[in-house]
This record gives sequence, C-alpha cells and structure tokens, in this order.
Amino acid sequence: MVGKSLRKFSFSRKFEALEAALTFQDVILLPGLAEVEPSQVNIKTNVSKNHTLNVPFVSSPMDTVTESEMAIALAREGGLGVLHRNCTVEEQIEMAKKVKRAEAVVIRDVITVAPSQSVAEAMELMKKHNISGLPVVDGKKLVGILTGRDARFANLDLKVERIMTKKVITAGEDIDLEKAKEILHQHRIEKLPIVDEHGLLKGLITFKDISLRGKYPNAVRDDEGQLLCAAAVSPFDLDRAKKLDKYVDILVIDVAHFHNVRVIEATSKILSEVKADVIVGNLGTYEAAEDAITKLDGVAGLRVGLGSGSICITTEVMKAGAPTLYAVSKVADALKDHGAEIPIIADGGIRSVGDITIALAAGASAVMAGNLFARCKEAPGTIMAIGGRYYKQYRGMGSPSAMAKRYTLDRYSMPAKGIAEGVEGWVPYKGEAGAVIQELVVGLRASMGYAGAKNIHELWEKAKFAIVTSAGAQETRPHDIILPSESTERTK
Ligand code: XMP
Repeated sequence: MVGKSLRKFSFSRKFEALEAALTFQDVILLPGLAEVEPSQVNIKTNVSKNHTLNVPFVSSPMDTVTESEMAIALAREGGLGVLHRNCTVEEQIEMAKKVKRAEAVVIRDVITVAPSQSVAEAMELMKKHNISGLPVVDGKKLVGILTGRDARFANLDLKVERIMTKKVITAGEDIDLEKAKEILHQHRIEKLPIVDEHGLLKGLITFKDISLRGKYPNAVRDDEGQLLCAAAVSPFDLDRAKKLDKYVDILVIDVAHFHNVRVIEATSKILSEVKADVIVGNLGTYEAAEDAITKLDGVAGLRVGLGSGSICITTEVMKAGAPTLYAVSKVADALKDHGAEIPIIADGGIRSVGDITIALAAGASAVMAGNLFARCKEAPGTIMAIGGRYYKQYRGMGSPSAMAKRYTLDRYSMPAKGIAEGVEGWVPYKGEAGAVIQELVVGLRASMGYAGAKNIHELWEKAKFAIVTSAGAQETRPHDIILPSESTERTK
C-alpha cells in the first residue's frame, strides 16, 4: 500500500528541470564597460552589520589557518581573521587578547608588575608578552615604571621597587593621540601610562603602537584603536560565546549545517546574551537563509557554502552539499526578497583572485578562505621541505587528526555520525600574509575592472556570467606551450 503522502509526488519528476549547482569552475565573468581604472576600484565592504573591512578577505576558523598571528596580519591589511575553536576557551581567549594587544591607541588590558616581585619575574613577563617595559602597580595605583634597560643589568633577585623609575611621566584620561606623541617625543620615552585623578592606572600609550598606525594605514580597528578580531564558537557552547564576547568584535557560529532546528534554537540563546555581532553559518540554500533571518533576531552576517572547501569530503562522502557559488546566489536572493541587508561571506573553494571576484559578483560581501591563507608564514601549520620546495600543513576541521583534538567534534562528525568529513595534506608555502593579500588586492581590482564595476555594490548589479564548457575550460588555461614548471607540452 502506498501511503497518502507518497501518492502526492512523483519520484521520476524529481529529476525533471533540475537546477545546476554551479561552482566557481563552471562560470566566467563577461567583460563590461569600464569607467574607472583598476587602481580606483573600491573594495571596501561590510563583513557584518556593524563592521567594515578595507579588503573583503576573511580567514577560516581552522587550526592550521587562524590563530593570533594570522588574525593580526589580516586585520593590519584591512581584512579579518576568525580564531579557530579547536582548543580550550582559555586558549582561544588568550589568542583574542594577543590580537587586541597587538595595537591600540590606549592599551586597556595593561600587563603590569608589583613592586614586591623580583626582577627575574618582571623579565619573564616582558619576554612572554614580547614587551619592553612594565608599569609597576601597588594594587591599582601606579608607583613606578620598569624598562627592559633598567632590568637587563640588575641582579635578578632584587625586588622591582629597588630598580624601577619612581618619577613617572603620566597623562590624564582625556589625552589625545597628538598630545601623547608630543609628550613621548619631548621626554624621549616609549611608554606613557594613563592615570585617573587618584593615580590609579587606567591604560597605556606606547610609541610602538603609534608608529604601527603609520605602518598599516589600511588596518581595521575597533573604537579603542585595537585590531578587529572575530572568533568561532559552537552554537551549543553558550559559555564560550559569553566569555569570548568580552574580547572579540564578532562571533561566528561555526557549524557545518546551520539549517537544523536544534542549532537555530541554540543560536537564538547566544544571540540574546552577547553584544558582539553574530555571523551564522554555514548556509547552503534559499530556505536556510530565510529561516536564519526570520526565526532569529539580530543575525549580523551569513557564512555561506557547504562542501566546496579544498579539504572537504562531505559532498563526496555524503552526496549532500551546496557549492559556494550556487549557495551564495540563493542566499543573496533570499535576503533581497526579504529586504534584509545582511552581509554574506562566501566560504570554501576559493583558489584564486578570479574565484573571489565571482563569489562577490554572485552576491557576497566578502570571501572566507582556508587554503589560500594556510600557505602563509602566519598560519600555525608546520612548514616542511619536500623535494627542495617548502610546504605548510593544512587540514580540514573534520579530518581525523583535527577531530582527535575533540573540540570541533560538534562541527563535523558528531560521535553518532562517526565519519570523517575532511582531509589533511600540504599546500605550497607563499611567505608573509601581507604580500599574499596585496597580490589578491591588485588582482581583485583588475578583475572588477574587467567586469566594469567600481565597487562591490556595482559588481552585484553589473556582473554577467557565462558558462564555461569543459572544452572551453582547456582553452581558458595556457595551452600548446611547454611551461618551465612542466616537462610535457600542454596541448588540449
Ligand atoms: P578552502 O577551500 O579555503 O575552504 O580550503 C575552507 C572552508 O572549508 C570548510 N571546512 C571543511 N569542510 N570538512 C568540510 O566539509 C572539513 O573538514 C572542513 N574544514 C573546514 C570551512 O567552511 C572552511 O572555511
């Protein structure tokens, strides 16, 4: 007996007029009338409702991609790093603090030493945090300052109070950057403690931070002048989300398949308890986007794409997925239909500048990449030489070795699923992230120039795609030439 509900549809019709789930490799951007030169193309964008980036690049929360060093490098170039969560919450908070401490107008979370501590302890603190001096505080009251120079030739067992400088040049809380620069210069000092009317330490301005502002003019910063920082959290870890909320600007709900009743419910709790912008994902369909924005209050961004990542085997193994390009266009339509202005981050499968432009043209505001950034010096993966070339380790967060660390078990392969969804391997080493990003920026501007767009908004409106046939795919690469890196002629 065929049940009533089964009688309502036809199995074979499910195969009629099927949509093509297009990938980056299937399409090209058609050239459009260019009105500006590539150097004039504006690539500034929104990564979430309340945060803007100067370049539309975000690094994946993966343990071979984003820890503090990568997040600092990206923010300095105008992008954003999302700290991975394959670690304890304490370790993740430590990463966030490092990013926030890397630069600031006024450092609020000042590392200090007590007058009764030993010179050895003070030296240890300076070494650990890579700083050259410490304000000395008794409780919270500023009583002196200890520089590396003071400490270097002192007896290590002496107490800090014996060698610290007691007459400290300080400034009040209303000091501005220009005045601070003047004081630092006038007194030839590197650190200017900020104190309140009772002499309590309220912050610190350093020469290093001021000079870094000139060095990274494109950096993205929060209101305190600290670098912008995001962190990934599981939708089921409210505690981690609340703890990280104190340190980061953006929380990224990090789950492989967001369109799930339990995940949506758990996310709504997080949304109601944190003040950071919350980006949710990953989403793959129109319906998923519709549910995310109508069932939840205050979603600030959407991370989109399921199964396109270079280390993903989800689609291959599970035969379920939504390629990033296809998913972005569907989600973008859902947002448009609902009149919702929420930035989309295209996540997974980005191999080149062309893929970035295509992802943006399909409706994304920024792209997230793991593979591209895992190649950089600042990525935490180990580096190794194979056949005279350097490579860096890169692994999916659903790979057996990443899951062995247990913290991301709830993103991929819950114990019940018991199946790996990622692989691990090596990617060619490319050097510093700054140079990689600069190259991407130049390429993106040129590519947008071809499409005739002078900013991302215009790219959304003007971009026209065409399908590349498999024969055409051969023609769009170098062919009929022997390349230096190859021993055989590339023909067709
Ligand atoms: P790329 O192409 O830059 O993609 O390497 C990075 C994105 O891939 C996702 N990711 C995974 N997907 N299994 C998956 O199916 C995994 O083990 C895995 N690890 C990461 C994630 O969205 C990331 O940003």
